Amino acid sequence: MHKVPVHKVLPGHTVILTVTPLDAGLHGGFRPPGDKSISHRAMIFASLAAGCSQLSGLLESEDTLATLHACEQLGAVVERRDGKLFITGTAGKLQPPAGATLDMGNSGTAMRLLAGVLSGQPFDSTLSGDASLNSRPMRRIVAPLQLMGARIEPRGEGTAPLVIRASTGLTGIEYASPVASAQIKSCVLLAGLYASGVTRVTEPCLSRDHTERMLPLFGVKLPAACSVTGGSKLKAAIFDVPGDISSAVFALAAAALVPGSEVTLRHVGLNPTRKGFLDCLQEMGAELQVSAARDQSAEPVGDIRLRFNGRLRAIDVPASRVPDMIDELPLLMALAATADGVTRIRAAAELRVKESDRLAVMAAGLKTLGVELQECPDGIDINGGRVAGGRVASAGDHRCAMSFAVLGLVAGDAVQVESAEYIATSYPGFSEDMNRLGADMQAVVQE
Ligand code: S3P
Repeated sequence: MHKVPVHKVLPGHTVILTVTPLDAGLHGGFRPPGDKSISHRAMIFASLAAGCSQLSGLLESEDTLATLHACEQLGAVVERRDGKLFITGTAGKLQPPAGATLDMGNSGTAMRLLAGVLSGQPFDSTLSGDASLNSRPMRRIVAPLQLMGARIEPRGEGTAPLVIRASTGLTGIEYASPVASAQIKSCVLLAGLYASGVTRVTEPCLSRDHTERMLPLFGVKLPAACSVTGGSKLKAAIFDVPGDISSAVFALAAAALVPGSEVTLRHVGLNPTRKGFLDCLQEMGAELQVSAARDQSAEPVGDIRLRFNGRLRAIDVPASRVPDMIDELPLLMALAATADGVTRIRAAAELRVKESDRLAVMAAGLKTLGVELQECPDGIDINGGRVAGGRVASAGDHRCAMSFAVLGLVAGDAVQVESAEYIATSYPGFSEDMNRLGADMQAVVQE
């Protein structure tokens, strides 16, 4: 057994993250790692553009490095200088990948966005990923892409690997997505850049809108909301990626749980389509303040300070808020486990098709820690109270692993989180950042 930072380990090895309950508050502040959704898009758009883009603040985690590697295989030239990434794009002329298959690792965003791009290329390609990604639903993108004329087939039962044949021409469509999903929306819009006419996407309610905000910065004019004109060309851009609110929330939630805490997270993305968790925190009684609010690279950013001010109260999460906090629901479940009363989450069936079945994984882990709860097909009721220590399975899901780790800070005894190496999917420096605030999280690799 050796101590290691929480990053991917050799095959056959795993990382156990042990979290010791605290008897003093967390203090300090930091800029969280770059936004994952925006980093994927910045890398892809820069690779499609003419000229050299300068990208700062990017997240370099397992997921975004999968995208970057694929972009290089498709002809983009990547250089690192002064903490920035310089990507010389292909001016829309991607090259056929040398390897037979592009490996998207654990990343749904990488696979679904690149499937849109590759559907419009004059060469064959295959997209594959790890066991989790290759079990996630892909019909949701395959169906609209086929409507556009793409020759894309899932090799599994509606699942990746995705085999994409050289395009014989795509036609723009008006697509009413049945799911509010930024991955579906962005996939179809990116394919639309290679289609004839206009492609437009509507969705049951607005999902994160980074693609729509970013394309104009890369020179693409949207003819109307959520639409693109086929043949639009991308131009290189200077782009600064804000801190990831989906990573910042772990330190904020920890400060809301541990008495005596006060933390500040700087330069955090505050896009309204991503802020649902902050609204919940406030409704649960947390005292948080946003300062230095400004716009950068077409995204609102600001600093968030949270000071502990007592036990949180349970809430009913409004169904309309679920898309704005889809990735933060596991953490909300962890907070609910200590809150006063019953927290109710519904309209969240999408959680079952994320990196894991997040409703099932969180329910099982919370039960192990002695939490009373009731799972239902599209949500969960959690009766907050005391949380015991114990060993929980994160099922290889980065967000579940970090949510259990935060809960461990206030558990009755140590919490051990299994498969913690997957935290590197989105937040490689998680335990180091938390420990600098005063937490005690130790990662140990096991064979
Ligand atoms: C993402 C969209 C969301 C989110 C994922 C990142 C994106 O997925 O859960 O972590 O970058 O577009 P869906 O679009 O499937 O809801």
